[in-house]
Amino acid sequence: MKKIAFITGATSGFGRAAAKRFAQDGWALVLSGRREERLAALKSELDVPVHTIKLDVRDSDAVAQAVSSLPAEFAEVSLLVNNAGLALAPQGAPDVDLKDWHTMIDTNVTGLVNVTHAMLPTLIRSGRGSSIINVGSIAGSWPYPGSHVYGATKAFVEQFSYNLRCDLQGTGVRVTDIAPGLAETEFTLVRTKGNQDASDNLYSGTEPLSAEDIAEQMFYVATLPEHININRLEVMPTRQAWSPFAIDRD
Ligand SMILES: NC(=O)c1ccc[n+]([C@@H]2O[C@H](COP(=O)([O-])OP(=O)(O)OC[C@H]3O[C@@H](n4cnc5c(N)ncnc54)[C@H](OP(=O)(O)O)[C@@H]3O)[C@@H](O)[C@H]2O)c1
Repeated sequence: MKKIAFITGATSGFGRAAAKRFAQDGWALVLSGRREERLAALKSELDVPVHTIKLDVRDSDAVAQAVSSLPAEFAEVSLLVNNAGLALAPQGAPDVDLKDWHTMIDTNVTGLVNVTHAMLPTLIRSGRGSSIINVGSIAGSWPYPGSHVYGATKAFVEQFSYNLRCDLQGTGVRVTDIAPGLAETEFTLVRTKGNQDASDNLYSGTEPLSAEDIAEQMFYVATLPEHININRLEVMPTRQAWSPFAIDRD
């Protein structure tokens, strides 16, 4: 099987680290994101064939077009990493701008299904040993204040991943939901709309996961023997755990 990976959200964080990790092992890469200059910079760093696509995953027509016009040498993709995503509005639900909820649903849910739908025929053609890695989150399983729609979109990712497994039974295509906990990327900068102090404060004095830690998990999942499917991989830093239930008292 040809080793060609399609990674969404490759301009930053997990996606960029994954591109570097798979490149180390000689995979050819299709890398997408909205920030074209970052894609070009990443391509110039990598020593493997790379096809970059400026792509907003929310635009289903653009996604379908990008997939149907993949150059021949990148057409036989055997790994899709559905990584593009974001959280917005860390404040409580009553104070959130509705647009932020829509943006999270449009990106984390609609965007992810847009890319999956467009890529399924290719992955099924690639068959045994090919994989879809969907990037979920611990927020998809565990509630916390300020997670509202973000956590709900990641719960969708988890259930969609399991349901896909049912429908891909017999094709050899594997599906995994990788659900990271606290990880230092541009995630919090995006969530706080550019508040660098908030981002630095969240990650300081502890040891969050790095983008490379998650890229390594992606590589592990995608390169396991063909008969093994990791359904869900939840990964937290050792220094992160759960809090007690909140109880409202008089
Ligand atoms: N960091 C964490 O603590 C954490 C924990 C659990 C899960 N996650 C999940 O991990 C994934 C990657 O996040 P990250 O932590 O690596 O954050 P990041 O550094 O902000 O990277 C997010 C990536 O998603 C892309 N993206 C966002 N909206 C997009 C859109 N509409 N169309 C195309 N690409 C889009 C961004 O590219 P452009 O802006 O260039 O388009 C960027 O490459 C997300 O799904 C996130 O929810 C993160």
